[in-house]
Amino acid sequence: MIYMSSKNKTRSVSRFNQFRQENQYIFVETEDIYKLKDESIWGKGDVHTINYLKGMDRSGTWLDLAAGDGRYLPYILPHADSLMASDIDVVALRKFRRMCLQWNRDRVDLIVFDITRPFPVINNSFDVVFCTGTLHYFPPSVVEKIVSEMDRVLRIGGLIIFDFAYKVERVLPNSDRHFIKPQIAHYDNLPEPLLFGRLRNHFEIEKTTSFFCDDLMQTHGYIIKGEFALIVAHKIQS
Ligand SMILES: C[S@@+](CC[C@H](N)C(=O)[O-])C[C@H]1O[C@@H](n2cnc3c(N)ncnc32)[C@H](O)[C@@H]1O
Repeated sequence: MIYMSSKNKTRSVSRFNQFRQENQYIFVETEDIYKLKDESIWGKGDVHTINYLKGMDRSGTWLDLAAGDGRYLPYILPHADSLMASDIDVVALRKFRRMCLQWNRDRVDLIVFDITRPFPVINNSFDVVFCTGTLHYFPPSVVEKIVSEMDRVLRIGGLIIFDFAYKVERVLPNSDRHFIKPQIAHYDNLPEPLLFGRLRNHFEIEKTTSFFCDDLMQTHGYIIKGEFALIVAHKIQS
């Protein structure tokens, strides 16, 4: 399912507008996506996540949820036989596509959908479901639904790889002026019961916690910092 070719552009935009009207849980940065042409506007990526991806040995079908502009793409593509990259933002996906080298575009499908709704994907269809930099935006009831959908579309033997940021602060350098994004959920701690509740019975879960501090002055006008967990959940039964 590819909604990104030029003949589908109108359809993508109207789907996006439809989602926008129906759903308050859409956090896009469309206007800023091309502030950096060949790099991601969300920074270079978390070092633990990158190291995990570099060291893993897992081929098969991958689903990247809320994939953004492709900062983890170079670390995913060596593993993925095929990759479905999804986002609600057509512009981000268009940049994602540019980040794929010509030879590997054939292995990548791009699809516009809202991850707070049931994913338009059949059960047990992926070996790896990947979601970074996004889940902490949503309130608990929505996170719970997203995790449940990740589980639904993952095969037994597969992996869910996701991160979760908490105690997040957005500040100006040399200042304690904070930027609050009121529409975005704020978590003071890693909400383990929420994230692992559904997974606990049929997954083995690995968790790595760390601190992060990303200078997003060029693109967002602030530094973002906080605590961060990388979660890798292995599905052992359904
Ligand atoms: C901080 S970016 C992270 C992008 C990418 N996963 C990464 O780590 O570089 C959050 C992404 O979530 C997407 N997004 C926001 N709300 C969404 C929704 N309801 N459904 C799908 N994607 C959404 C945004 O368009 C954006 O690309």
